[in-house]
Amino acid sequence: MDPRIDPRLGIVGGNGWIGGALARRLVASGLPPERLTLSCRGTPPDWLPGATWTHDNQALTDTSDVVVLSVRPPDWSAITLAAPSKLVISVMAGIPLADIAERTGTDRVVRALPNAAADVGASYTPWCATPAVTKADRATVRRLVDACGTGDEVPREADIDYLTGHSGTGPAYPALLATALIRDAVARGIAADVARRAAVGILIGTGRLFEKTGEDPADTVAAFVDYRGVTAAAILAMRAAGFDTVVAAGLAAALEKSATLHPAKETP
Ligand SMILES: NC(=O)c1ccc[n+]([C@@H]2O[C@H](COP(=O)([O-])OP(=O)(O)OC[C@H]3O[C@@H](n4cnc5c(N)ncnc54)[C@H](OP(=O)(O)O)[C@@H]3O)[C@@H](O)[C@H]2O)c1
Repeated sequence: MDPRIDPRLGIVGGNGWIGGALARRLVASGLPPERLTLSCRGTPPDWLPGATWTHDNQALTDTSDVVVLSVRPPDWSAITLAAPSKLVISVMAGIPLADIAERTGTDRVVRALPNAAADVGASYTPWCATPAVTKADRATVRRLVDACGTGDEVPREADIDYLTGHSGTGPAYPALLATALIRDAVARGIAADVARRAAVGILIGTGRLFEKTGEDPADTVAAFVDYRGVTAAAILAMRAAGFDTVVAAGLAAALEKSATLHPAKETP
C-alpha cells in the first residue's frame, strides 16, 4: 500500500457527526477502511467494518500518518497527544492553528471547516495551513475535502474564523428561511405537508440550478427584479424590511461566538 495514495488516517472523535461523515466519505471515495483508525469515548460502533476503533488517542496517532481532530471545542482541552512530524488536520471550530501546533508538537497543521452536508458529499470546506505544510500534505487535505464535496484553501486563518459562522453552518440558514416560508404558508391556510414540500423543493431546486449554471446569486436576484413580476415584489419588500441587515447581524453574531469557542476564552 502506497502511503502517498492511501495514507493511514486517524480521526479523533470518529463516531461524531462530522468525524463519522469524514470517515464514510473517505471510504466511499476509495480509501480502504483498513487505513482508518477512529477514536471515541463510548462503546465503539460497528458501522465501519474493517476500520480500527480505539479509546487511546496516542495509539491512534502513533499508527497514523495523518491525524484529524474532530471533537467539540470544549473537549479539546482534555486531549493529550504528541504528533511530531505528522500532518494534523483540525475541523474544530475556533481552535487556532498555533494552539494545535503547540499541543500536538507538529508544525504541519491545517484547519478545515466542513459543514453538515459532508454527510452527503456536498460540504463546502474552506481550509488554511501553517507555512510548514508541504505540497504532498496539501494533496492529502484536498483528498479529504473533495471526498466531502468542494472547498478552497484560503490565505488567512481569520478567513476560517469568519467562514465558521458562514459556510460552516451548512444547512442552518437555508433551513431558517425554509421555516419562515413554511410558517407563512401555513398561516395562510396551506396544508403543512404541502408547505414543507414546497419549501424543501425550493432549497433543493435552487442548489441544483446554481450547481448546473454556476450563476452568481446576485445576477439571479437582479434578473428576477428586472422581470418586475411577483418575485420582484417580494424581493423588494424583503430588502426594504431589512433582509440584508438581518443577515449581516446574524453573521456578526456568529463571528463573535466563534471567537469565544477556544476553551481558554470561553465565557461562563
Ligand atoms: N456539526 C457541524 O455541522 C460542524 C461543522 C463544522 C465544524 N464542526 C466541528 O467539528 C467538530 C466535531 O463536531 P461534531 O458536530 O461532529 O460533534 P459530535 O457529534 O459531538 O462528535 C464529537 C465526538 O467526539 C468524541 N470525543 C470527545 N472527546 C473525545 C476523546 N477524548 N477521545 C475520543 N473521542 C472523543 C465524542 O465521542 P463519544 O460520543 O464517544 O463521547 C463524539 O462522538 C467540532 O469541533 C465542531 O466545531 C462541526
